[in-house]
Amino acid sequence: MKLGVAILAAGQGTRMKSDLPKVLHTLAGRPLIRHVIDTALELGAYRICVVHGHGADQVRQALGDLGCDWSLQAERKGTGHALLQALPYLEEADRILVLYGDIPLIRAATLRNLVHTAEDATLGVLTALLADPSGYGRIVRDHDGQIRRIVEEKDATEAELAIDEINTGFLIVDRARLQGWLGQLGNDNAQGEYYLTDIIGMAAAEGLTIATDQPENEDEILGVNDRIQLADLERRLQGRMARDLMRSGVSLRDPSRFDLRGSLKTGRDVTIDINCLFEGTVELGDGVSIGPNCYLRDCIIGPHTEILANSFLEEARVGHYARIGPFSRLRPQAQLADEVHVGNFVEIKKAQIGTGTKVSHLSYIGDARVGAGVNVGAGTITCNYDGVNKHLTEIGDGAFIGSNSALVAPVRVGEGATIGAGSVIGRDTPPNKLTLTRAPQRTIDQWQRPVKKSQS
Ligand code: UD1
Ligand code: CA
Repeated sequence: MKLGVAILAAGQGTRMKSDLPKVLHTLAGRPLIRHVIDTALELGAYRICVVHGHGADQVRQALGDLGCDWSLQAERKGTGHALLQALPYLEEADRILVLYGDIPLIRAATLRNLVHTAEDATLGVLTALLADPSGYGRIVRDHDGQIRRIVEEKDATEAELAIDEINTGFLIVDRARLQGWLGQLGNDNAQGEYYLTDIIGMAAAEGLTIATDQPENEDEILGVNDRIQLADLERRLQGRMARDLMRSGVSLRDPSRFDLRGSLKTGRDVTIDINCLFEGTVELGDGVSIGPNCYLRDCIIGPHTEILANSFLEEARVGHYARIGPFSRLRPQAQLADEVHVGNFVEIKKAQIGTGTKVSHLSYIGDARVGAGVNVGAGTITCNYDGVNKHLTEIGDGAFIGSNSALVAPVRVGEGATIGAGSVIGRDTPPNKLTLTRAPQRTIDQWQRPVKKSQS
């Protein structure tokens, strides 16, 4: 069976009140439509056609090359008309599965079940029983429980409005039949639109089998029409991901205060405190603990490393048994070896820090290679920028940099060297020696503190 997927996404999204097309608004860091495309890709469809309209160029550009076909529905004439625009792209399909660009939480497992349930039927419809069915098309069944047709809310009678089984919109249909039915659709209804849902009545009238199936979770069928629904779906999706992580053995101190916008790979016994945000691709090794209010984007953190509160890490790599924070900032290409300690108000950029080295307070280390077992005193700055170019600072193993030193790059501090506090080091320093630049300390014996003049 060759499966083709059509994603309807030509709607305008007026209620978002946005210059950005609705389907490009993000959920967990990914555009709404990206969620749907990724789910379609999981199903192994031979071809995916997105029917787009509003903000066409913007949508295509933002999504780049995902291997989808794009069909333009220039004028919005209803879901039936929209699906018709996808057919030329899905000519080889045996069956067509219809998805929606603004219903992002549908799960691949649910769609697989629908495909499976409808295997021997001409049509399969995903329906749901809702306590409040308002807004949805209603499923009209006969005395035998066979589905007869779908009636849109705006066209429904009082009795039909009382039906609590609704059309989620998701359906799978035999392509050859679909072609014929879509050609016969009319638009004589309350909205003057070509309703895709009318094909259910046509199939029933021909006496064909129509299968129905239900999703496991109500989240899966929720659409996004405004920013309130967008935020609601964000929380639901975050909850879903948080539960998956906890099931896999991660401790989240409060799953309602956890956010993931990307992918998070975790070892055993990882603990994540409240208000943390993970973006891009993050890996946390066994026993890693992340304190409250941390941000990590595209990082790899080695086993048993502790990231303490309020730390901000981007494109950093940290080895095992390291301790970062509180209030540390690791910028792109910060590479910290095992057992490194980085403390409060320390910024590290494009620098390798060797095993066991400590940079505990108030420092900037940028464009540097720092060896193992180095102690970088409080307030040490690598002066890497001369206003035009960036230069390298190298610090050998076992060096000790006194507090408040300025290392003016390019410069090299030798192995085991000691730099006296408050030094400005502009030339290479020899290994195992004390180097310092400091005006001698003086005491002025005769000096007297001024006294306030009398006002008489
Ligand atoms: C549709 C169903 C309804 C179902 C509901 C579930 C029809 C006629 N009705 O109603 O039975 O309960 O979805 O959410 O299908 N679209 C286009 N081009 C168009 C019109 C729509 O691409 O010309 C896209 C929209 O972007 C949207 C989707 O199709 O993603 C649904 O369209 P919408 O107008 O929102 O249909 P509903 O009235 O919600
Ligand atoms: Ca809708």
